[in-house]
Amino acid sequence: MKFVRFIMKNSALASAPKHIEHFAKFSPSPLSMKQFIDFGSTNACEKTSFVFLRQELPVRLSNIMKEINLLPDRLLSTPSVQMVHSWYVQSLMEILEFLEKSPDDHSVLGEFVETLVNIRNRHNDVVPTMAQGVIEYKEAFSQDPLTNQNIQYFLDRFYMSRISIRMLINQHTLVFDGATNPIHPNTIGSIDQHCQVTEVVKEAYESAKMLCDQYYLSSPALVLQELNTNNKNQPISIVYVPSHLYHMLFELFKNAMRATIENYNEGSSLPPIEVMVALGGEDLSIKMTDRGGGVPFRKIENLFSYLYSTAPIPQPDQQHRAPLAGFGYGLPISRLYARYFQGDLQLYSMEGYGTDAVIHLKALSTDSVERLPVYNKTALRNYKVSQGADDWCVPSREPLDLAVFRLAK
Ligand SMILES: Nc1ncnc2c1ncn2[C@@H]1O[C@H](COP(=O)(O)OP(=O)(O)O)[C@@H](O)[C@H]1O
Ligand SMILES: [Mg+2]
Repeated sequence: MKFVRFIMKNSALASAPKHIEHFAKFSPSPLSMKQFIDFGSTNACEKTSFVFLRQELPVRLSNIMKEINLLPDRLLSTPSVQMVHSWYVQSLMEILEFLEKSPDDHSVLGEFVETLVNIRNRHNDVVPTMAQGVIEYKEAFSQDPLTNQNIQYFLDRFYMSRISIRMLINQHTLVFDGATNPIHPNTIGSIDQHCQVTEVVKEAYESAKMLCDQYYLSSPALVLQELNTNNKNQPISIVYVPSHLYHMLFELFKNAMRATIENYNEGSSLPPIEVMVALGGEDLSIKMTDRGGGVPFRKIENLFSYLYSTAPIPQPDQQHRAPLAGFGYGLPISRLYARYFQGDLQLYSMEGYGTDAVIHLKALSTDSVERLPVYNKTALRNYKVSQGADDWCVPSREPLDLAVFRLAK
């Protein structure tokens, strides 16, 4: 019996490429915040959500799997990337089993929720495993700028796709897990219809402060201000996923605290971290200002690079550093969370002084629509471009000897 199951599973896996081809022909359907809320509000229909997801999840998985296959062989063949790939294949095949099943059968709906929970757990470690693959690749091969650019392009899209797939799975499992009313009436799955931004800022600050106090025995204070131009006396609230906002702010606070402390001598008082939250007609912006000495302008882009920041050589004191600084994915992943609902995250730094990190989000839920990668000719071209010569002059190391010209006169 076991053997028969083994054979069946393997033949199912063998048919995976055919399914990937099929589903990658469809473009993912981005959902708006409003659609997420409609799927999960009082007249939510589990059947509709089931029928949507059993098509949409394979489409999103297959679109990104086509791109995994375009990675440079030397990265694709690392054990870590192979492992991640096998998780994707298995999850795809598990969802496809539901294509033939009837949404009217209640046990099917229950099984589907269970399958989604299993898939979510299977993919928990995708980010560190993929990062491990990048480290393996970096250690084994010398890098060229074109490959690095491809990997950066891929990982941004791959992690964005992952954020979106987890969002879909979370919404379905949280809304239809059989529990009655959610704890909070404003909460629909992971979305808070009245997400109070300054509350999330305070929570993220407190968590980062705890880590900072543990490691450095002190931490900078928080000065928090808000300006609600729409309704002067009301605290700012937006329709958003508080866990995404928390993730971004927590990462920014950890960075700001580490920079502040490392930039100040013992004994001198630490300058506070200032946070300004402003709500306009179109944007909700959050600016975090630190006096941590900043970063040279030339390096700003690198801070968002997955290749530049991964630290392959473990330092002896790395265990102690772990709380405030991770493996360099804090900024790039936070920027993806901001971009996921059409926002952005930018860093403005003045070397020698400090850094402003700004999160821009959409103020209106109608503007908050998923931003999803799609596999098409343009994407394909991005993996294929060959690098030409630079069309800007590269300054030579030695300054030109102008005396030569004088003599020629
Ligand atoms: N506010 C800041 N001030 C100075 N340097 C910063 C700041 N934020 C980020 N950095 C630099 O950017 C790097 C990458 O940040 P991040 O992506 O969060 O990864 P990690 O914190 O794990 O190193 C940090 O190691 C630090 O050198
Ligand atoms: Mg960090």
